[in-house]
Amino acid sequence: MERFVRKCSITLKIVYIILAILPFSFSNFTSKNYKDALSKSLLYFEAQRSGHLPHNQRVAWRNHSGLLDGLEQGVELVGGYYDAGDNVKFGFPMAFTVTMLSWGVLEYGKEMIEAGEYGHALEAIKWGTDYFIKAHTHPNVLWVQVGDGNTDHDCWQRPEDMTTLRRAYKIDENNPGSDVAGETAAAMAAASLVFKTTNIHYSNVLLDHAQQLFEFADKYRGKYDESVEEVKGYYPSESGYEDELLWASLWLYKASKKERYLEYVIGNAISFKGVTWGVNEFSWDIKFAGLQILASMLLMDEKRNNYHKYILDKYRLKAEHYICGCLNKNTAENMNRTLGGLFYTREWNNMQHVSNAAFLLTIYSDHLKTSGLTLNCPQGEITPKEIISRAKSQVDYILGSNPMHLSYLVGFGARFPQRVHHRGSSLPSYSRRRKFIRCMEGYTNWYGHSKPNMNVLIGALVGGPDENDRFIDKRSNYAQTEACTYNTAPLVGVFARLFKLERTSNCPNC
Ligand SMILES: *[C@@H]1O[C@H](CO)[C@@H](O)[C@H](O)[C@H]1NC(C)=O
Ligand SMILES: *[C@@H]1O[C@H](CO)[C@@H](O)[C@H](O)[C@H]1NC(C)=O
Repeated sequence: MERFVRKCSITLKIVYIILAILPFSFSNFTSKNYKDALSKSLLYFEAQRSGHLPHNQRVAWRNHSGLLDGLEQGVELVGGYYDAGDNVKFGFPMAFTVTMLSWGVLEYGKEMIEAGEYGHALEAIKWGTDYFIKAHTHPNVLWVQVGDGNTDHDCWQRPEDMTTLRRAYKIDENNPGSDVAGETAAAMAAASLVFKTTNIHYSNVLLDHAQQLFEFADKYRGKYDESVEEVKGYYPSESGYEDELLWASLWLYKASKKERYLEYVIGNAISFKGVTWGVNEFSWDIKFAGLQILASMLLMDEKRNNYHKYILDKYRLKAEHYICGCLNKNTAENMNRTLGGLFYTREWNNMQHVSNAAFLLTIYSDHLKTSGLTLNCPQGEITPKEIISRAKSQVDYILGSNPMHLSYLVGFGARFPQRVHHRGSSLPSYSRRRKFIRCMEGYTNWYGHSKPNMNVLIGALVGGPDENDRFIDKRSNYAQTEACTYNTAPLVGVFARLFKLERTSNCPNC
């Protein structure tokens, strides 16, 4: 991700002033090829791979890279994902990406099997978890970053050519990071559930790592951006680590069924703000809404004592606050939407909030449906059907039903962004041009030119339009044209669900 500063807003503000009155010439009742979108979304994770690529690698414009990662620090850290348009491996958003992919498979694995994409989804998860296993070298040591944002951003180079610093950064007992250790524990616990049916040994390995990481996160408390200063400009943990501790413990409860993890989620619910904070934002940093939704789902299938029920019910109220806000049914604090209907949180990479919200809406709709419930919001009752329709409207906007008539999922449909802010995608592929591309050469010859990217970054969800549904397809406009792994990750599950919805829409009892 580009640097965590909001300086880009100054130039873009000028554009906002030119308020285009956009006609609603696009239909709200379109049907998209969600199966195609699902297949494409999974290809994106292959394009983001770091390390030694396997023989069945389908994205052929990529090749091996980062093969010496960790060497300087004497640890083997080959693999994992580049997080966005640069070549840094940031552990915190990578872990969230894997948690969301796993949650999607846990809820909609059956739909993925029907679409023939289950195997690819598992591969996408495993590419992350294999790396986390390497990165967790000791119960209380986790390597959380390889590469350095500042020197990486000085160059515009393919990962295959990287000449930038590849220093690795870790957290340990003296330099804690409860947020990143917690999220990595959540990712590994969720993934251990995914692999339970297909690879029990791997599933157990993941669960062991997850339990150790959680203990480390809980016992040595601290924000990782205070231990690893280098992340501050990119992925600082602004919401602190309490959300990740609750979230990790909840995933561990689901994966291990051990009561102590549930006791933690109940016992710390108030002091960690799990049942007191209603946040309209669910992201790589802020886990509250996801936590509250996941916790409230436990109310249905568990025989609980009264205190458990009392606390889980408080989680439910906050979960409902989030969902009601997405449907404009709160008295205050509703989700903002553009004229074209897109959820709008903020200008930089707004799409991450859209895809995460679409995911939570989809999950909650199905949860209400299977429990035979409706939702009473401050401004009226809503049905599961209305909730999933709202998710679908966001996804359809992403896929092209929008004022720009553009799909923000790269490679989908006839029109999509051509100048994605992405080093590898914008430069000639390694197979076409083996010759080394120097640090500045990429900027001089490819970054600034107006021609489309050389390689289509299929399945990437870019940052998306501004609050007036406007999108400027320029590489330098990274607030809009950069894609991140955690943008696409929640969509994988949602696409699978909508694929099923389309197939059963003529079947009232489905
Ligand atoms: C990587 O490049 C080599 C040539 O150096 C080629 O033989 C190989 O097939 C490529 N690997 C992948 C995964 O594309
Ligand atoms: C909606 O927009 C208003 C005005 O910019 C802002 O104050 C509010 O926080 C936004 N609401 C949400 C849920 O993002």
